[in-house]
Amino acid sequence: MATRHFLTLLDLSPDELRYLIQRAISIKNGLKTHGPTYTPFANRTLAMIFEKSSTRTRVSFETAMAQFGGHALFLSPRDTQLGRGEPIGDTARVLAEMVDAVMIRTFSHQGLEAYAAASTVPVINALTDDYHPCQLLADVMTWTELRGSVKGRTAVWIGDGNNMCHSWINAARQFDFQLRICCPEGYEPRQDILAAAGDRVSIHRDPLQAVANADLVTTDVWASMGQEEEQARREADFAGLQVSEAMLDQAKDDVLFLHCLPAHRGEEISTTLLDDPRAVVWQEAGNRLHAQKALIEFLLLGRVEG
Ligand code: CP
Ligand code: NVA
Repeated sequence: MATRHFLTLLDLSPDELRYLIQRAISIKNGLKTHGPTYTPFANRTLAMIFEKSSTRTRVSFETAMAQFGGHALFLSPRDTQLGRGEPIGDTARVLAEMVDAVMIRTFSHQGLEAYAAASTVPVINALTDDYHPCQLLADVMTWTELRGSVKGRTAVWIGDGNNMCHSWINAARQFDFQLRICCPEGYEPRQDILAAAGDRVSIHRDPLQAVANADLVTTDVWASMGQEEEQARREADFAGLQVSEAMLDQAKDDVLFLHCLPAHRGEEISTTLLDDPRAVVWQEAGNRLHAQKALIEFLLLGRVEG
């Protein structure tokens, strides 16, 4: 059987993604009731290559491996041969001789694809400049846990047409919900990703109109990792797009607010938004652990019932 990778949400079928969400919820509930007694990853190793900073992604993958009886290796370009120019294809072939799966956080999505093409073990995208699919597993899991099936519902993305926005577009395709994107001119998501989603996704300029009657509102930082020098210009360009409690008041009464975090209070969100009960970002962050356990289990072992 060909090696399955998870580079974007399009690498799994809608049916497989729905399975993963339900499996993640079931794993989470099992952890609550039985404790960490299920160890399907005994003697398995996940290599984690981080070329950008991380708190949630590193801790959730490392803890997922530990709780499921396996082991995770943190690898940074600073102290591996990757940082001294060893070709990524060579690194992929070497690691595949030793570990069971590889997780990569990097800049170039093409670089990630090149790595995956050379890898005979599953490769997981832990964020590139273009996508962050693992975050969407946790986000859809959180939305589903709190509100049931997301099919046919309406989510609103406020802010930059960035890697998270691209993954929300793919989620709208795969989970069959509507997505309204409210961004400044010049900060739209990539046209090909948008076009492939058809009429499930629309572009808006007025945030209050965009959130009207929405089931879910989400946003992200205005300057992503690697764009630090654009911070000042972006703060000016995104003025007026700060998500606030008053903005959520325009949405449905039971609207949820998600943010992948880290958040910049006073920029993309009001200083108090994360204290509002409609914000469920801590549950969302915690769900990274459960969603990624389900993902790695699926990539290594296939579907598990129960
Ligand atoms: N949301 C997210 O991926 O967080 P980290 O950058 O801390 O991993
Ligand atoms: N868009 C952000 C997401 C961080 C989790 C970034 O790429 O920095």
